[in-house]
Amino acid sequence: MKNANWIRVESLKNNCPLFRKQFSVKENLSKATLKISAKGVYEAHLNGNRVGDFILAPGFTSYDDRIQFQEYDVTALLCRENTLTVQVACGWYSGGIREWWGDNEGKISALIAELTVEYSDGTTDVYLTDTDWEASESGLTYCEIYNGFEYDARIEPQFDLKPTLDPNNDTSLLIPQIGEKVTAQERLYPREIIRTPKGETVLDFGQNMVGAVEFTVNATAGDRVSLSFGEILMDGNFYNDNYRVAKCKYEYTCREGLQTFMPTLTFYGFRYVRVNSYPGEILPENFCAVVVHSDLKRTGRIESSDPMLNQLYHNIIWGQKSNFLDIPTDCPQRDERMGWLGDAQVFVRTASYNYDVERFFDKWLGDMALNQYESGGVPGVVPYTKPTRISAAWADAIAICPWQMYLTYGNKDILENMFLPIKKWVDYVISTTTKENLWFGGDHYGDWLELKAPYGSYKGATRDDLIASAFHAHSTNILCKIGDILGKDVERYKEHYKKVRNAYIEEFKDNFKTQTEHILTLYFDLTDQKEAVAASLVQMIHDDGDKIQTGFVGTPYILHALSQNGYSELAYKLLLRKEYPSWFYPITKGATTMWEHWDGIMPDGRVWSTDMNSFNHYAYGSVGDWLYGAMAGIQTVEDHPGFEQVHFAPVATDEIDWFRAELDTKQGTIRSGWRHEDGKAVYEIETPVRSTAVIDGRKYDLEPGRYTF
Ligand code: BGC
Repeated sequence: MKNANWIRVESLKNNCPLFRKQFSVKENLSKATLKISAKGVYEAHLNGNRVGDFILAPGFTSYDDRIQFQEYDVTALLCRENTLTVQVACGWYSGGIREWWGDNEGKISALIAELTVEYSDGTTDVYLTDTDWEASESGLTYCEIYNGFEYDARIEPQFDLKPTLDPNNDTSLLIPQIGEKVTAQERLYPREIIRTPKGETVLDFGQNMVGAVEFTVNATAGDRVSLSFGEILMDGNFYNDNYRVAKCKYEYTCREGLQTFMPTLTFYGFRYVRVNSYPGEILPENFCAVVVHSDLKRTGRIESSDPMLNQLYHNIIWGQKSNFLDIPTDCPQRDERMGWLGDAQVFVRTASYNYDVERFFDKWLGDMALNQYESGGVPGVVPYTKPTRISAAWADAIAICPWQMYLTYGNKDILENMFLPIKKWVDYVISTTTKENLWFGGDHYGDWLELKAPYGSYKGATRDDLIASAFHAHSTNILCKIGDILGKDVERYKEHYKKVRNAYIEEFKDNFKTQTEHILTLYFDLTDQKEAVAASLVQMIHDDGDKIQTGFVGTPYILHALSQNGYSELAYKLLLRKEYPSWFYPITKGATTMWEHWDGIMPDGRVWSTDMNSFNHYAYGSVGDWLYGAMAGIQTVEDHPGFEQVHFAPVATDEIDWFRAELDTKQGTIRSGWRHEDGKAVYEIETPVRSTAVIDGRKYDLEPGRYTF
């Protein structure tokens, strides 16, 4: 690709140029390969046939550092006379999403391509993007990530424009595809066509999701198809105020006759679609929601006799499908859709059990290392374009995510790649804290959305300095473990870790003000008085009415902190609670994905806010790892990562008749579950590797095989 040029069309203000190259091929063709990328997103067609199936290619990376290119074998698409067309649009490179960071100035979409045609006599023809290519305005008159698209099918491209060279014609930033491709994964048809009290026609696809709508219509030229997208209904009417400024336009002007269309250079998060305009009768068979996400292999499955629990697991899976679109995002619908580190950090373990996300995280962590500040600080969002807060629990993703990749998949490469960034991160905290051996000071997101938030704040009541110090201890500890695995000298950090732990105990004196303060202390092993701290947590939960009060930071660990300290019964009570606040409460309100807020829709049916109210935020789906790791008790063993050995510690509850989980690993499929027989829990385990187990307090060594206890 190094001889190809970045080309663009400056006169097209919509940033959606269509490029064309026509060429002839001789008879003795043996192979043709297209390497291609864009600043923005592209879709290529060769002689009218789609090249590849990657939606929103080339994907989202830290564009100032690296841009992926894709390579396609296009031999089968070639004729004697050929036309290659490539539609380019803003994607993540420019437009609203870049504007969010105030960094959209001068960002113009561009294309780069290299088509190599090989002949059986050993000769080759190479076609490189340059100013001889043709360009045109196309039917795609507007298209970007937050605001959707406008398409006029009557417009025939004229190819009357000449591209110019991108002044930043640097090809050294191009790298081969490293992440998973994004593809169309499922097709859902409307479950119901609703006539709302306001008189609107709304398609209910029955599932909150991410992708786009495909429609078919027999139209007269100039007819319009206009759709709007929403996640919930409000008083039975269409509602999407929570999308904030993201317009999510879907505006299509028809050509004459029968036509089918689906936008592929933008995406929408939705369950409900309001049909603003459609020529003809609105029939369910003419609309289809195409679910789009990274092409990940499903590895985990959970099933039980409890329909609410099954729905919770379903919502966790769909939260992941919706937010694993090339990068892990906070939410997929409003004017955000960013790679927020805190969200990914809390969900990473669940994510790595549900799906094989090794390659997916490898790419994102690579961008994280590139986006790390010179100081060692880590931004809140990756890929990022403008500096953000350096917050505990968000920035700590730089240590926690690679460590989890290692535990789940057992590959040391990610540790090698991330060792220095993690070390830089730990050093950053050491050099900027205002209190030695702890992390005091800084600007943090806190226990985001914790319920005891002071009025008007999202941050919660848990002390910043406590969260920051606890995560500093945790990241330092991870650094030490990684250092040992890689044979690096980390003695200094081991000493530091001891000092941090002692300083933490000294500073906070086992006197904690919120559930999360207890939870972090217990889960990160920052007390010598576990029993007392656990008892104090239990007391606080009782005082809070046996309700969860935690936000993003405390929620992933609350049930672990209870079950690891002998309070499984209370953990189950919190898990199975149906009233607000709880994991099941959103299900009683019809949730099909995880909500950002415990009370996204309040008990009285109102929304708590329009400002920060996503109904597809996977963070609280982090409870999934308690389902795998405590209910089924499938646990990784640090000395034998990648499930080369498993530790089973399942804990049944009388509240559920049966439960089972399965995990496909590199070693084979692990199964663990339980059912009740004659008033007693019967545990069933299947392990492909030598393992250990603790069942009802008794220890077992297991050879590969199936066991019933
Ligand atoms: C996002 C969160 C994110 C947070 C930072 C929000 O706007 O949606 O999920 O982690 O900002 O606190």
